[in-house]
Amino acid sequence: MCEISSAIPLAGIPPARLGTAVKPLGIGWCLSLPFSFAFDRVKSRFTSMSTDAQDSVLSRFSLPDTSGYFGPYGGVFVPETVITALQELTEAYHAARSDAAYLEELRLHLKEFAGRPTELYFASRLTEELGGARIYFKREDLLHTGAHKINNAIGQALLARRMGKKRIIAETGAGQHGVATAAVCAKFGLECVIYMGAVDMERQALNVYRMRLCGAEVRRVDAGQKTLKEAINEAMRDWVTNVRSTHYILGSALGSHPYPMMVRDFHRVIGRETREQILEREGRLPDELVACVGGGSNAIGFFFEFLDDEAVRLVGVEAGGRGIVPGGHAARFEGGRLGVLQGCKTFILQNEDGQIELTHSVSAGLDYAAIGPEHAYYRDRKRIDFTYATDDEVLKAFKICCRTEGIIPALESTHAFVHVMKRAREMSSDQVIVMNMSGRGDKDVQQVAALLGEEAETR
Ligand SMILES: Cc1ncc(COP(=O)(O)O)c(C=O)c1O
Repeated sequence: MCEISSAIPLAGIPPARLGTAVKPLGIGWCLSLPFSFAFDRVKSRFTSMSTDAQDSVLSRFSLPDTSGYFGPYGGVFVPETVITALQELTEAYHAARSDAAYLEELRLHLKEFAGRPTELYFASRLTEELGGARIYFKREDLLHTGAHKINNAIGQALLARRMGKKRIIAETGAGQHGVATAAVCAKFGLECVIYMGAVDMERQALNVYRMRLCGAEVRRVDAGQKTLKEAINEAMRDWVTNVRSTHYILGSALGSHPYPMMVRDFHRVIGRETREQILEREGRLPDELVACVGGGSNAIGFFFEFLDDEAVRLVGVEAGGRGIVPGGHAARFEGGRLGVLQGCKTFILQNEDGQIELTHSVSAGLDYAAIGPEHAYYRDRKRIDFTYATDDEVLKAFKICCRTEGIIPALESTHAFVHVMKRAREMSSDQVIVMNMSGRGDKDVQQVAALLGEEAETR
């Protein structure tokens, strides 16, 4: 079923009204950076730079602007009832990220509960087999609950607690964000409701059970295509109704301001660690970073610390599904165009009348019609390149990764792996390519076995 993009699921607020709807945050705030990435470090880099370089740093750290825009992308397109909640959230996030106690607690839970820092792993057999660049994986798959999603779930749950909200809602596609949210809610004693499309519940049944084990209520969404978009619609409806008691932990760098910025910031730890680790291992920066892109949270968190390093190529890999035909894929930069979906202006797969296209991907976590606004911005600036991998390529690559490295990747991450296999061969042996292994594939094993016509069970 299709919907009209500009009205989905909620009425848009014209940009002219944003100034009053969302309290402006000054450049000083934008530069008071979160977490261990101290302002001093940026300042000292900044003052020793040419004017051009200063501009680039300033723009990176001052985005989004005070209305939540990354150039023409982003913004706030929600009904009146949620505006106050978004404003409160922006203010709470602002206060939290300059509060040493919050940052220390976040750091502690990321370490003790999630398992940070994650390893940077040298894929030696793959490197040898492909005979090109040295290949590394950033092992977000080793995190508690199995994917990068827990970085954001912990950050937002702590924020909800500060705001006095005891009820959490979330949407999930692949189930990884749902499981991370359910686990974090169990840990912090918060009530948890997860919305999930019926199709995704079937293909990610293991994760549904994991969420329930952690005490979450999983609400099945039977509307439309029964995947991520519909789950977000239902979560938004819940939020509009219960906004006083409830915090919505959105799971990707998507939606209305401040979510794209806030989710990105919670995942920047991926890139910060990678940078330190690769400098230690190789004594230099990598030539290329590769990440899969659903809404875009693992990719932007991975890329952000490298945006100023022009020599490091950044590549996002979208879901090419059954190939680039309408309804057969979820590669927003292959045929998508500007529109508004679920609170945010960005690249969207839609038909000529603005109806949202059906999407398809073998991986539930990439099966979504819109891409995070920051990705659209950096694509325009030619700072992040995008490509796609098809379902067939992904299924083949999935097996290669398991057999050469003994690592079972999430189907989402396997999209990035497809590109790594193509690129590494073209690169020379003194070059370095690093892929973000965003999650582990335990959740996908049954589905892959069924798709390949194999038996998942042993006899
Ligand atoms: C393991 C994994 N990687 C990647 C994604 C895509 O999300 P994002 O683009 O926000 O990182 C998902 C989404 O569920 C996921 O589970």
